[in-house]
Amino acid sequence: MRTHIPAALAFGIGLSLATVAAAAQNAAAHLVWMDDAGDAQADLGAAIHANKGADVARAASRIEDLMAKTQAYWEAKREPEGVRITQDARALAKEIAGAATAGKLERAAASFTKMNTACNACHGLHLEKR
Ligand code: HEC
Repeated sequence: MRTHIPAALAFGIGLSLATVAAAAQNAAAHLVWMDDAGDAQADLGAAIHANKGADVARAASRIEDLMAKTQAYWEAKREPEGVRITQDARALAKEIAGAATAGKLERAAASFTKMNTACNACHGLHLEKR
């Protein structure tokens, strides 16, 4: 005898599979943003040492963009602690870009140190395990 899966149930299963697939894809995207943030962080540090304001501003803006995506990701996952730290990192990245554009590299360097502390604080939460 052939089993008939009611259409509504089949539709429901399809939807939850789609949700699981979307979540996995988002997690993969999150990892790419983090890789990019790590690269931009290294570029930013090197640019500060080389005293290259335009490069500092470019790397900081890239991080600000990536933190905007990260923020939306954790908002959707309802992780207020992660969202708050991401907002800090994002605001500091913006501050770095502004200071660097204004030629204030010492101020940019001080904010860079604070931003790195924010990145590390979030990593200490190990949100990927929640
Ligand atoms: C919302 C919290 C959060 C913030 C803020 C955050 N990260 Fe991450 N980061 C993570 C998580 C979670 C992982 C673990 C990998 C994953 O789930 O994507 C990670 C992993 C990484 C990795 C390792 C990637 C890999 O290939 O394993 C790097 C590099 C990184 N982050 C850089 C940064 C930098 C730089 C900043 C700050 C500008 C930052 N992160 C801010 C949550 C955060």
